Amino acid sequence: MRLGGKTALITGAARGIGRAFAQAYAAEGARVAIADIDLMQATQVAAEIGDAAIAVEMDVARQDSIDAAIATTTDAFGQIDILINNAALFTAAPVEEITRSDFDRVFAVNVSGTLFTLQAVARHMIERGIKGRIINMASQAGRRGESLVAVYCASKAAVISLTQSAGLNLIQHGINVNAIAPGVVEGAHWDGVDALFAKYEGKAPGQKKAEVGAAVPFGRMGAAEDLTGMAVFLASDDASYIVGQTYGVDGGNWVC
Ligand SMILES: NC(=O)c1ccc[n+]([C@@H]2O[C@H](COP(=O)([O-])OP(=O)(O)OC[C@H]3O[C@@H](n4cnc5c(N)ncnc54)[C@H](O)[C@@H]3O)[C@@H](O)[C@H]2O)c1
Repeated sequence: MRLGGKTALITGAARGIGRAFAQAYAAEGARVAIADIDLMQATQVAAEIGDAAIAVEMDVARQDSIDAAIATTTDAFGQIDILINNAALFTAAPVEEITRSDFDRVFAVNVSGTLFTLQAVARHMIERGIKGRIINMASQAGRRGESLVAVYCASKAAVISLTQSAGLNLIQHGINVNAIAPGVVEGAHWDGVDALFAKYEGKAPGQKKAEVGAAVPFGRMGAAEDLTGMAVFLASDDASYIVGQTYGVDGGNWVC
């Protein structure tokens, strides 16, 4: 029960990695707000967890929705001690085919959504003197460029940079900001990635996924549950001296 008595707001928690984080946090004693643009799926995840969870409709790309999600969570649970900025969109295209609307859509969620949710929750924590934890979901894609993935890679590089700056700025209030950089993780997200690579690289469905899984030094793709240990650790008292860091949890995909 490393998170007993804490409340966590987790964005994009209706499926995939965010869902696994919500389950792991509840198992460690936290109350969790399952915040997602997909309210129906979020409601199902909250019901699976039980009394320790609520579903919250939230679009991280809209300030009014960020503010409303924080108000709903504090109405239900009193305050927010932990934020996981997990909601994100993936996109891929050759550079010459990138559209301004796709760039704006991805940056609105992955970058603006991360920054302004972090800002709103940090204000809440500062006002109430909460020594909180903020965890941003970065990616190995933020460590390097990748052919076909310019926009998503740039968005995750921005998340790593925001984590450093916000970490340095907010630690004076006792708020720790850190990030997790997964490698390749099984789930609906990667099914979408696979379909984009099938389109642009002429691969058979499932082929790209099999290739990236085989290339992981650990020997397989990650599962969402492979990431929960780091998410619990970064929210726990054991991580109080860690500031502005991005941790790879990727089976050895990115070592530097
Ligand atoms: N799966 C991977 O291989 C992988 C690798 C590296 C990093 N990541 C990162 O980990 C995080 C979780 O990934 P995942 O695989 O679980 O993704 P996912 O696509 O399965 O889930 C994302 C969730 O975010 C929600 N969402 C989308 N737009 C939203 C918005 N505007 N407001 C609120 N919610 C919104 C979706 O409804 C969905 O439930 C993301 O930040 C992703 O970039 C994933």
